[in-house]
Amino acid sequence: MKILRLLTCITVSWALLGSLTIPAFSMEDHMTDTKKLVIAHRGASGYLPEHTLAAKAMAYAMGADYMEQDLVMTKDNRVIVLHDHHLDQVTNVRNIFPDRKRSDGRYYVVDFTLAEIRTLSVLERFQVRGNRMEAVFPDRFPLGKSYFRIHTLEEEIELVQGLNHTTGRDTGIYPEIKSPGFHRKEGRDISRAVLNILKEYGYTKKTDNIFLQCFDAKELKHIHNNLLPELDMDLKLVQLLDGGEEYKPFFTKDGMKELAGFADAIGPSIHMIVLKDSTADNLKITPLVKAARQAGLKVHPYTFRMDKNMIPAYAENYDDLLNLFLFRIGVDGLFTDFPDKTIDFLKAHAREKKPG
Ligand code: G3P
Ligand code: CA
Repeated sequence: MKILRLLTCITVSWALLGSLTIPAFSMEDHMTDTKKLVIAHRGASGYLPEHTLAAKAMAYAMGADYMEQDLVMTKDNRVIVLHDHHLDQVTNVRNIFPDRKRSDGRYYVVDFTLAEIRTLSVLERFQVRGNRMEAVFPDRFPLGKSYFRIHTLEEEIELVQGLNHTTGRDTGIYPEIKSPGFHRKEGRDISRAVLNILKEYGYTKKTDNIFLQCFDAKELKHIHNNLLPELDMDLKLVQLLDGGEEYKPFFTKDGMKELAGFADAIGPSIHMIVLKDSTADNLKITPLVKAARQAGLKVHPYTFRMDKNMIPAYAENYDDLLNLFLFRIGVDGLFTDFPDKTIDFLKAHAREKKPG
């Protein structure tokens, strides 16, 4: 019933890919049965403050295939695991270092040493409204409770590799180089610093259990063309995409081919695959997945969340959303704040498919 509805109601009318000469989405192309990758987005961040070791340990125990690390650099050139190059939306930096903000009112990671950063408490992500702190996701871990700290990339890799040792599993890592242009302006080469650490910890080949991601296409090309060969490394690279103008050139047949020349996968926002104004009866699925597939690229969209108001209107619930992306559109994996629910869904799907 749902499949019929999908086949009859798809409208492929996405301006960005309008110039692609690709046939409209068809079910058969995407019914592949390869393993779908569950990438723990900032850890089990639906349950514990993002990017804390606790959130990573929880995601590991849930059985995620990959652990995501967003990466930024400190004043003393250490690579830490944090989503922003600011500290003020996930820590108590305002209380501990009230005089260290820049003229824009923000507290920059690059202005603090690792030792200073280690004195901060990590909180669930929040916004300041007047004098009040408001959690971005009010039903998640309570603001300001328990004890969480920021850690380095090395410490997180040691957690994952240590757990791989004790469990016999082989969970991968999925680091993201954040704001390379900003870091360069601040006199830091974040890509080189990250690659040196990855090499030290044994991630050097395409077959190693790692994807390296970045939104900055120029930087990803530089990593592919210059840094990896120079360091005698060859990793799987992921071009992250959002609705920004700078990505438009990739949304042609030649552009997609160019992208496949330096990346192994794309990481688009879910809204680039199914348009936000879709309804269950009128799913507007863009040609992006098909175009990527034709260029030989894997597709790992972000971010799948099951908090209140985070399920798009076109999906009945979280499982329906997963079913649409993983098995009807056929993406290869996804970033989720709820690895457990995603793994439960995949297990139930596998059980349903088993004959007998
Ligand atoms: O890296 C995939 C996804 O995490 C991109 O968005 O802003 O959460 O890093 P962001
Ligand atoms: Ca990320």
